[in-house]
Amino acid sequence: MTQHVSRRDFFKMSGSLAAGAGVAAAGLAPATAEAAEVGSAILPYKPEVVTRAQSMKVNQPEHFNFPDASSPCQAVKMGQAVPGGVGPDKDIVAYSTLCTHQGCPTVYDANDRTFKCPCHFTIFDAEKGGQMVCGQATENLPQIVLEYDAKTDSVTAVAVEGLIYGRQSNVL
Ligand code: FES
Repeated sequence: MTQHVSRRDFFKMSGSLAAGAGVAAAGLAPATAEAAEVGSAILPYKPEVVTRAQSMKVNQPEHFNFPDASSPCQAVKMGQAVPGGVGPDKDIVAYSTLCTHQGCPTVYDANDRTFKCPCHFTIFDAEKGGQMVCGQATENLPQIVLEYDAKTDSVTAVAVEGLIYGRQSNVL
């Protein structure tokens, strides 16, 4: 029988496994409320509310930093459901804006809904999970995993898919 594992569960499980190894190695204690929720594990990402879905306008990116202040990201409401999209219309996605080639800041182009790098012209598709369309980069743009809470209308960053440029680990 096939068992479905949601994206959230997947990240929780992988976070718990990785964190569990770290705890065992370093003898550290849980430091966050969510860590307590899953026992003795320290989860790698501290969830961060980045915007409210109802305040977003289609094709107008909103800047935020995640998982820390030195990691610039943008959230975009695409106007139609897209992979990884959250919110009432499943159309809100977010990405690290650092190009995966050499780390230049990419710029969102509302005309074709891509992130474009001005340094060596790599193009990433915002409607397809940050997929590299053409250019020098070999990796897709890291996608910020978002969750939506309908009660508070909050959009929360909870993880990163892919490695943020210049890092050996997304969480420093
Ligand atoms: S740094 Fe973006 S394409 Fe080279």
